[in-house]
Amino acid sequence: MGSLCCETPFFMVFFILVLVVQHSMFPTTNSQPDFTYHSCSNNANYTNNSPFKKNLHNVLLSISSKTTQLDYGLFYNATSGEYPDRATALALCRGGVSLKQCRSCVYNSTLRITKDCPKQREAEGWYSDCQIRYSNNSIYGVLDTTIKYVRWNTQKALNPRGFNKVLRSLFDGLGREAASGSSVQKSAWGDKKVPSSNVDIVYGLVDCFPDLSYLDCLDCLNRLQNFLRTCCNDSMGVRIFGISCQLNYDNTPIYPSLLSSPSLPPSPLPSSSPTPGIICSEKFCDCLQFKTYLKMVNITLITLIKSIFVGVKKNV
Ligand SMILES: *[C@@H]1O[C@H](CO)[C@@H](O)[C@H](O)[C@H]1NC(C)=O
Ligand SMILES: *[C@@H]1O[C@H](CO)[C@@H](O)[C@H](O)[C@H]1NC(C)=O
Ligand SMILES: *[C@@H]1O[C@H](CO)[C@@H](O)[C@H](O)[C@H]1NC(C)=O
Ligand SMILES: *[C@@H]1O[C@H](CO)[C@@H](O)[C@H](O)[C@H]1NC(C)=O
Ligand SMILES: *[C@@H]1O[C@H](CO)[C@@H](O)[C@H](O)[C@H]1NC(C)=O
Ligand SMILES: *[C@@H]1O[C@H](CO)[C@@H](O)[C@H](O)[C@H]1NC(C)=O
Repeated sequence: MGSLCCETPFFMVFFILVLVVQHSMFPTTNSQPDFTYHSCSNNANYTNNSPFKKNLHNVLLSISSKTTQLDYGLFYNATSGEYPDRATALALCRGGVSLKQCRSCVYNSTLRITKDCPKQREAEGWYSDCQIRYSNNSIYGVLDTTIKYVRWNTQKALNPRGFNKVLRSLFDGLGREAASGSSVQKSAWGDKKVPSSNVDIVYGLVDCFPDLSYLDCLDCLNRLQNFLRTCCNDSMGVRIFGISCQLNYDNTPIYPSLLSSPSLPPSPLPSSSPTPGIICSEKFCDCLQFKTYLKMVNITLITLIKSIFVGVKKNV
């Protein structure tokens, strides 16, 4: 626990509170790894034996069975039932994940999501390599720009102006490239040289759910990109999970398979290792800036608290 970042008194109080509450809220002992982050909508719940429950079961089963068929790539969708009991589920792997890893990740997510959200009519879960969402609403091709989870490197780039300029140009390009992808993949990655003494190259990776239109994907990624200045000014590495898209950058390659230059050593970084969870190590920390973060951001308090619960859970 020495590496926990919550050092301020404010945080210790909060931390203890979290320890007390989390045991009653988050059951452990599951065969699938924990999500990096998950979110269960509490707007409406389904009951046992309801038609929705059956439809949800069908769509998750349909997706998990597709992971054993070789004709599926990095995107999965399924719908079952009729309004108002229709269930739709979508799953997506990040660009750069191997198909084998993707299938395993999506398969796990179909089981894990109902353990974490056992009765909600809408939920989302993120692993490092993939994400899943389901809803009673029609979500296929529908943009949701909500930002659910942010993790940033507490180390800052020197020469913020130069660094931010490079980031902007990198993500402007990646956003357009991802948005113009196909109906089964809208991902883009790339890297750029940085005029800074402590960062040489910044590596970026963005993904949209590919059922989105060009404009919706672009809109989604633009929002995440704009959010960088609110959450993570000058941070050397950031990961943002939105419901319909995600954005990542780091000063080491995100996936070795995405390296544009084969001469670079394949060194996977902690933030994208298959080990899910928040690594509050010397390098990454979710909670250090929590207090300022709260003041700056109006997503929802619940989202933030949940992300910290998840982080604390990983560290106990
Ligand atoms: C759904 O269940 C959750 C968890 O038990 C609860 O917090 C929430 O209030 C419920 N929502 C509704 C609308 O009943
Ligand atoms: C998945 O999306 C495709 C493309 O729109 C659609 O043709 C197909 O019916 C969907 N599959 C399911 C099971 O919803
Ligand atoms: C899904 O559930 C929510 C919450 O009960 C409800 O407001 C919404 O109308 C439902 N959507 C559909 C398509 O039935
Ligand atoms: C899926 O879960 C199994 C354990 O049930 C684990 O061995 C495997 O590594 C997981 N897959 C991924 C991609 O995390
Ligand atoms: C982030 O940096 C920009 C430019 O350097 C500045 O205008 C902005 O206020 C900063 N945001 C925060 C939250 O510190
Ligand atoms: C937060 O945002 C929501 C919707 O954007 C708004 O209704 C609410 O008033 C905001 N809360 C604060 C404290 O700004």
